[in-house]
Amino acid sequence: MMMPAQKVSGPKGKLLFGNYFEFDRDPLNFILRCSQDYGDIVRLKAFNLEFYLLNHPDLIEEVLVTKNKIFIKDKGLKTRSSRRLFGQGLLTSEGDFWLRQRRLSQPAFHKERIAGYGAVMVRDTTRMINQWKNGEVRDIHADMMRLTLGIVAETLFGTDATANAEVVGNALEIVSEQFSSQGGISQLLDNLFPTPNYLKFEKVVQRLDEIIYQIIDQRRAHAGDRDDLLSLLLKARDDDGSRMSDKQLRDELMTLFLAGHETTALTLSWTWLVLGQHPEVERKLFEEIESVLGERMPAVADLPRLQYTDMVVKESMRLYPPAWMIGREAMEDCEIGGCRIPKGAQVLMSQWSMHRNPGYFSDPIRFHPERWQMEESKRLPKYAYFPFGGGPRLCIGNAFAMMEANLILATIAQKCRLELQPNQKITPMPSITLRPKEGIFVTVRKRQEFKV
Ligand code: HEM
Repeated sequence: MMMPAQKVSGPKGKLLFGNYFEFDRDPLNFILRCSQDYGDIVRLKAFNLEFYLLNHPDLIEEVLVTKNKIFIKDKGLKTRSSRRLFGQGLLTSEGDFWLRQRRLSQPAFHKERIAGYGAVMVRDTTRMINQWKNGEVRDIHADMMRLTLGIVAETLFGTDATANAEVVGNALEIVSEQFSSQGGISQLLDNLFPTPNYLKFEKVVQRLDEIIYQIIDQRRAHAGDRDDLLSLLLKARDDDGSRMSDKQLRDELMTLFLAGHETTALTLSWTWLVLGQHPEVERKLFEEIESVLGERMPAVADLPRLQYTDMVVKESMRLYPPAWMIGREAMEDCEIGGCRIPKGAQVLMSQWSMHRNPGYFSDPIRFHPERWQMEESKRLPKYAYFPFGGGPRLCIGNAFAMMEANLILATIAQKCRLELQPNQKITPMPSITLRPKEGIFVTVRKRQEFKV
């Protein structure tokens, strides 16, 4: 006998606004509370939109994998500024168009291909450390943003980017700042008409467009055989022999630029925070790096032996997932976990609340890299931990990001200890990504000054 679809409950909310203000005031705590109070699936409302927050790995798998064809990206990614910025890039496009682009781009992210970028990652990190002075106080988040931007610029555009590095860097900072900090009411207003803020944003995007198109033009004129992502995308051909247009290349490059630097920077920034708070973990990390590398600079070939380093990164992404929530929109009435989801509803899946769920992680708020070696983690359902999403829309840059985070962490930890400034306020701010609102301040201690 068919069971009738279950009704879903959730916090009551206010007339018209629904749960908007509760969510907006403190999204991280609000979704944690919702998952504790209402279980696997929670119904929320904001204005005329209906939301379903999923708190069970099997339900997340249903949406991202098994029933992925019924869902498109959520409304949060369809704002005016998002459309202008990403166009029809990989992150935001849908259907057959997305599939074609994904097929064309995929080879540029193959493991062997990206291994070639390891040397750039280590070299840029070493240059940055050489500029640091022993004993100085630095905002390590700002440093990580600059570093990963430089790396993505060089691996995407190659040397063509260096001439414009400063302009591109500044413009991208402004763009991602405005893009990320929008939300709620300002986003609604932007969607109704271009606000003064939006017009400022538009100007910066135009400047970025000019630079990107110029780089594409130059590269088409002097193709050569380079091994950066742009040359691979330029050469990429679909089954029918067609190539990407300039507009499509622009959309993909802008998407990769933005999706590919802040998230990795955040992974590292949060890692420095938790390392600074856990000297016993930091000591084990130093020991591993010393025993595997000695004085030698890290390289991609060392990564399989830097296992503790990898567990530290993994655990830091569990507690502070840079993508803290992803969403989808149901294109038709459907059932998830036996519950009815109406067409047009937004489905939310939060790494922040799933990764802190005591049903899957014992002592969930403890930073404990060793948990990744324990039986418990081997039995973990697949979508209890999903920092890179999953299914066909899995992050295309996940191997790139893991390699980059591990290499940067090992390169810095080999040469420096970053001591957290005492009594600083650190607030995780959930905009599009999970950012440290006030930055993260550390004192640099160069390793020749102390022994592990
Ligand atoms: C630690 C770093 C990173 C994290 C946590 C992360 C997270 C994610 C997540 C969760 C998604 C899926 C979004 C969804 O399903 O709605 C995604 C998609 C994507 N990411 Fe990443 N990402 C990271 C690094 C990167 C890097 C380094 C690149 C490129 C160089 C990149 C490029 C992309 C692109 C293009 C997509 C869209 C893929 C598609 O839909 O086909 N990401 N990322």
